[in-house]
Parts: sequence; C-alpha cells; structure tokens
Amino acid sequence: MKTVTCFFLLALIAAGCGSQNEEKSETTDTTIQSQAADEQLFTDAARNLVAQYGNELQTTLFAALNDYGPSYGVRVCQTRAQEIAAAHSVGDWIVKRVSEKWRTIEDRPDTAEQRVLAVFADPMTADDYLVRWSGPDSARMFHYYQKILVRQVCLQCHGDLQTVDLDLWKEVKIAYPWDKATGYKEGDLRGMFVVNAPYPQGQEIARLLADGATVAELAPPADSAAVDSTLTDTVLEDTL
Ligand code: HEC
Repeated sequence: MKTVTCFFLLALIAAGCGSQNEEKSETTDTTIQSQAADEQLFTDAARNLVAQYGNELQTTLFAALNDYGPSYGVRVCQTRAQEIAAAHSVGDWIVKRVSEKWRTIEDRPDTAEQRVLAVFADPMTADDYLVRWSGPDSARMFHYYQKILVRQVCLQCHGDLQTVDLDLWKEVKIAYPWDKATGYKEGDLRGMFVVNAPYPQGQEIARLLADGATVAELAPPADSAAVDSTLTDTVLEDTL
C-alpha cells in the first residue's frame, strides 16, 4: 500500500502537478538519510563545543573561588555565566545550560528539555549524553544534551541550606530571589548542557568542530556592530 502511494506521488510529481506536500515527502526521505549520516559528525562537534564551554565555566569559577572565595564566586557566576555561553555559541550553533531547579530564569528548560532531563534523572539511563532531532524539513534542528552532575565543590553554592554559608546565601538570595538551585547532594543530577544547531545549515561548523577546532578559531570576523564597539572601546581606553 505504502509503495503504491509512493509510486502514485512520484507519478504526480513527474507529471509536473505535484503539490507542495507531495514534494515534501520526497525531500523528507532524502533529509532523513543524510541527517542519519551526519548525526555522528554533529555529535562529535557538539561534544567538542561543550568541552570548551564547560572548561571555561569551570576555570572562571575555580579562579574566582581560589582568589576571593565563594561570595565573589557568586558574583562572577552571575556576570560571566551567560556571557560565556554567548561567547561559545558560534554561528548558528547555540550552547547553554538548563536545570529543573534553575537559579536564573535564563536556564529554565522548555518542554522538550524537561523530557530529556527526566530521562537523565532515571537511574536506568547510563548514557551521559543524548541526541535528538526536531522540526519540519524546512527548519530541522539537531539537539545534543549532556548531563551535569553535582560535585563536592558545587555544594558551597548549590548544597543544603542547613550547611551553606550564611553570608554566601544572602549573596545568592539578593542576586537570585527566585533561586531553586539548592538542596543538592554530591552525585545528583544538577542539569544539562544543551547544544542546538540548524540542519543542514550547521554542517560547515560541524565539520570544523568535529575536527577539533576551537571556538576562538571559529569566531566569525567581527560584524559591523562588533567592530564599532571594539573601536569605541579602544578610543575610550586611549582617552582614559
Ligand atoms: C560560587 C558559587 C557557585 C559554585 C561553587 C557553583 N555554582 Fe553553579 N551557579 C552559581 C550561580 C550564581 C549560577 C547562576 C548563573 C547565572 O546567573 O547564569 C549557577 C548556575 C549553575 C547552573 C545553570 C542552571 C541554573 O541553575 O541556573 C548549573 C548547571 C550549575 N550552576 C552547576 C554547577 C556545578 C556542576 C558546580 C560545581 C562544579 C557549580 N555549579 C558550582 C553559583 C555557583
């Protein structure tokens, strides 16, 4: 039956009277095939991107903790975390972190992300990452999710309210009145890294990242707005 319909559709298209829907069914087959072939490439690329993003978050946090202690760490996370995510979102590849118990509303998961978080929260899930596809052919998206677990060092700011330092806690409450991100124990699921990339448009960046490119190497030449602000900064620096 399926084959008959397929022949019928192909005949219609060949006769030049295929409607958009019929053409779409042909595209769908091709898209699914090439998408499957590219899944490994996109996954390798996303893993590289998350490694770089996670490293920079960790280096920034640890430097702040070592140099000035946890209260300063909160301020650094507050000002730098979203900036670091933006700096690691290259081209149309977007990286971020989300959590069911978010500290900042920017990190609130959408419905699809909530479903993946539930999969990671299931003790039967051994994988540390998952890959999903979404959207119609005209707006196909690749999604990569990697779990984030709580470690000892994280408890200073995400641990139990009974044991958390009071000054630090005040700092958190002032910065994040709606904070939900406490009460964790070591080994708990804290949230996940998310990478979203359009398909097939993201292929070029996927190839470079999968080949080990760094974000700095990939950063596109400054656009006019960025050039303007760089110039302004230089001018300001020179003037000051
Ligand atoms: C010095 C305090 C501090 C420490 C230590 C800390 N965090 Fe955070 N964390 C924060 C702050 C503040 C934010 C909110 C950042 C923002 O505004 O974007 C945050 C946000 C997050 C988020 C994003 C989700 C959300 O709740 O908004 C994750 C995931 C996360 N932290 C994981 C960790 C992990 C894992 C560790 C240990 C390796 C850790 N944190 C250690 C302060 C801390």
